[in-house]
Amino acid sequence: TGYTTLDPGFVNTASTKSAITYIDGDKGILRYRGYPIEQLAESSTFIEVSYLLIYGELPTADELAAFTTRVQRHTLLHEDLKRFFDGFPRNAHPMPVLSSAVNALSAYYQDSLDPDDPEQVELSTTRLLAKLPTIAAYAYKKSVGQPFLYPDNSLSLVENFLRMTFGFPAEPYSVDPEIAKALDMLLILHADHEQNCSTSTVRMVGSSDANLFTSVSAGINALWGPLHGGANQAVLEMLDEIKANGGDTKEFVRKVKNKEDGVKLMGFGHRVYRNYDPRAALVKQTADSILSKLGGDDELLDIAKALEEAALTDDYFIERKLYPNVDFYTGLIYRAMGFPTRMFTVLFAMGRLPGWIAHWREMHEDPATKIGRPRQIYTGYTERNYVELGNRK
Ligand code: CMC
Repeated sequence: TGYTTLDPGFVNTASTKSAITYIDGDKGILRYRGYPIEQLAESSTFIEVSYLLIYGELPTADELAAFTTRVQRHTLLHEDLKRFFDGFPRNAHPMPVLSSAVNALSAYYQDSLDPDDPEQVELSTTRLLAKLPTIAAYAYKKSVGQPFLYPDNSLSLVENFLRMTFGFPAEPYSVDPEIAKALDMLLILHADHEQNCSTSTVRMVGSSDANLFTSVSAGINALWGPLHGGANQAVLEMLDEIKANGGDTKEFVRKVKNKEDGVKLMGFGHRVYRNYDPRAALVKQTADSILSKLGGDDELLDIAKALEEAALTDDYFIERKLYPNVDFYTGLIYRAMGFPTRMFTVLFAMGRLPGWIAHWREMHEDPATKIGRPRQIYTGYTERNYVELGNRK
């Protein structure tokens, strides 16, 4: 065919140059725009990290204030878009509801669709950052049959999201500052991770000059899979199952090693990290502190720790350099905060949004960008003649 380079899963193929996120998988290093993830988790905020990823620099105080106000002014959803949620069954998973509503933004906000108009790109950026938490909260409200709350723009992005998720129209809701801070930190940890599956999807869709809303919607769908963002839900389901079966972590590890029924240790392993995922280390610390404060499921945390210990001392995992990834401990925290298991991947999507936007914009601004169009190695028939229906066996 003339095309001989085959790289399933793009294990060794760079699809682009990028100046956004740096990972050293052997050393367990992650940096956004050069800033270590540990420093950002400790000292920054999600809104500031969003600015950093999208615009490349930490904002000045004035820039941050202007950016925050701009985002706060766009949190409302079009009233007709709110009715869109009624079309879904109550028991729908919130991820397809989220991606569908984000895609529908292209229908409701047609004045910000042109990828080549910088003002429109700016407007769609702001709208996405502002509206995604509102959509996420409404997807939750719909699933529990509770009324939607309008956003309160005096609150920060995370506080507003918590209020719209857990609050009621007739009751005052006070946000627990520790929960808000922990959630903000978790969103920072999820904000970007270079050319992962969902980000590559956003770039691929955007490379056809598709608008930002629709490209991000595609990214949300890619994120839903259990090998990617859906792993946080799968981890908790795995822990629940181990608990229900008596809590025998060694037996579970044995099953994984023997690849019995194709069972995997969810929340373990990573394409790039061959060392402890630096995000997982930060999440583990938070799990300890937030669970002791909120009184989460200690037994489940103990099972998770025993599972980690059993895996990290086992030859199967040592030989393959499999360590806990970001999803291993997040679910325990989300559950302690009151989120149902099905909302976990939605929280990942909220965190990853600024990364998707930053990559879509970087791709559009790069003169070297071409439409994404991989080649293949054809393995089918060469040529054969059409057989009339009556002559087929
Ligand atoms: N449990 C058991 N074995 C595993 C696991 C696991 N979690 N992960 C990898 N392996 C084995 C795999 O079977 C293979 O063994 P062998 O050589 O005997 O066939 C070897 O380790 C190499 O794995 P791979 O599947 O070739 O690695 P990959 O880079 O293609 O896949 C991964 C990476 C994340 C999809 C995979 O590690 C996995 O399925 N993990 C569980 C799901 C998960 O936690 N995903 C979240 C990733 S982090 C969040 C994010 O997406 O950003």
